[in-house]
Amino acid sequence: MAEKILVAVAWPYANGPRHLGHVAGFGVPSDIFARYHRLKGNDVLMISGTDEHGTPVSLAADREGVTPKALADRYNRIIGDDLHTLGLSYDIFTRTTTRNHYRVVQDVFKTLYDQGYLLRQTTMGAFSATTGRTLPDRYIEGTCPICGYHEARGDQCDQCGNQLDPADLINPRSKVDGTPPVFRETEHFFLDLPAFAEQLAAWITRQEHWRPNVRTFSLNLLDDLRPRAITRDLDWGVPIPLPEYADRETKRIYVWFDAVIGYLSASIEWARSRGTPDAWREWWQNPQAPHYYFMGKDNIVFHTVIWPAILLGYGNGGEVGGGTGEPLQLPHNVVSSEFLTMEGRKFSSSRGIVIYVNDFLSRYDPDPLRYFLTIAGPENQDADFTWAEFVRRNNDELVANWGNLVNRTLTNVFRNFGQVPQPGPLAPEDVALMEATERGFAAIGTLLEGTKFKAALTEAMRLASQVNFYLSEQEPWKVIKSDRERAATVLYTALRCVDHLKTMMTPFLPFTSQQLHEMLGYDGFIAGPLAFRECTEEDGSTHRVLTGDYAGWVGRWQASDLPIGQVLRKPEPLFKKLDEKVVDEELARYQ
Ligand code: MF3
Ligand code: ZN
Repeated sequence: MAEKILVAVAWPYANGPRHLGHVAGFGVPSDIFARYHRLKGNDVLMISGTDEHGTPVSLAADREGVTPKALADRYNRIIGDDLHTLGLSYDIFTRTTTRNHYRVVQDVFKTLYDQGYLLRQTTMGAFSATTGRTLPDRYIEGTCPICGYHEARGDQCDQCGNQLDPADLINPRSKVDGTPPVFRETEHFFLDLPAFAEQLAAWITRQEHWRPNVRTFSLNLLDDLRPRAITRDLDWGVPIPLPEYADRETKRIYVWFDAVIGYLSASIEWARSRGTPDAWREWWQNPQAPHYYFMGKDNIVFHTVIWPAILLGYGNGGEVGGGTGEPLQLPHNVVSSEFLTMEGRKFSSSRGIVIYVNDFLSRYDPDPLRYFLTIAGPENQDADFTWAEFVRRNNDELVANWGNLVNRTLTNVFRNFGQVPQPGPLAPEDVALMEATERGFAAIGTLLEGTKFKAALTEAMRLASQVNFYLSEQEPWKVIKSDRERAATVLYTALRCVDHLKTMMTPFLPFTSQQLHEMLGYDGFIAGPLAFRECTEEDGSTHRVLTGDYAGWVGRWQASDLPIGQVLRKPEPLFKKLDEKVVDEELARYQ
């Protein structure tokens, strides 16, 4: 039976183009997972969008001298284009400035408020003297009261490592314009996290299938659970849905509170846009539907503590959840990756240590990037992107192993037979190789289900080198001169293995797998194009979403029966060998 699987991908901030570190963390892993499950025949709902509110966007807008909405519009487009070019197969990639999202966020806020899970508290807040807006802790700098370091941040001192409060800093100043912040009393709503402490502890303890660092980190967070402010003094965000705040332009819902609710609102938008407005319930109110979340490690707390608390508090209440059916599902897995550095340094857009996805993909194909980020990316530990390694992995692994296998098998078959040849009697080594390759479906499938992407791809590459080894031993291009039937048998065997491996490679390398699918003489999509669609809301406003029609794709995660006599299309190399001088050129470009 087809399983319903929610693939929930972290929402990138619409405050700049995305760099390789971002897509290594949330992008490529989530897409591999979604594509695998679609091939398995499962019902995947893969959702995300741009995260457009709060200080990340409003500060960037100030810097560029445009409104936050204009900035978000611009980067929503650019980011959507990046993800599209990289082949990330969202069912819906939308944004947080839609009416639908506002409606769902306000419903969740209101429901939690009515249930008593939101506490009002008055605290001292830091405001910019120039704009009157909140200054987030990390935008306040000053002298550390403990060690005297001059550039300590409002949240912590990078020299002595102590946690700080902005009010502790000596000579505090705004990082934005250098003026001293003003401290004054302000009322905020706090999510009553301690009210969920027991439920969260019991739930996280049971999640033995989580990556150990995620589970341990999350359990530690429970030791010091305090109410958490979910509103801000800011004019850019979802308005607070209470009558006394209706006209208050300067208090808004905190960006993280609204962003995580995006997972739910995007699912609702997707269901509506397909004309099946209740279809989202099949994932969200279905205890049989596992939810997988993908993100970088700096997002863990929001997905293992705050979002689950919101979901527990909401239950099936509210206008959207409708008061019927199962409560909204908690995450089944929170798959977080570590960080990617570049040539040994932290990515930093402001310091120019950055490779943007669109820039990268203007010179290189998406599959080699997806390959690198999977095989050498930050799945379980911090990883480093270097141009030398990118070129080496591309040339010595992708081109020399998998690319070479495809190329020599297909050119030999195409030149000598033009179609899938009729094999003669199979020798034991032919049978053994086909069986070994077929076992890849189970082995790689298990690894992918366990979100072990690097190991899964390594196994597929190992199988490819086995088939290469077989070809080098059998030398069908020599044998054909004296024994055409044996050459046909060997090439048939290799071709079947290539066809199996094509399917196993599809989640990782969708573009070249589709190409190979066609060269093998098949029609239809094993990994087809994604599409942009304009979406119009009740008030006539429109926004663009990235989506795709994946239901009609023909691939299945199983051994194919490559039909004998199927006519091949002219083979072309799947990958390009990169010149070694690329390394120096790129290093010079990024100096
Ligand atoms: N915008 C955040 C970031 O880039 C991620 C938000 S994930 C969501 O770190 F769950 F809140 F959507
Ligand atoms: Zn210090």
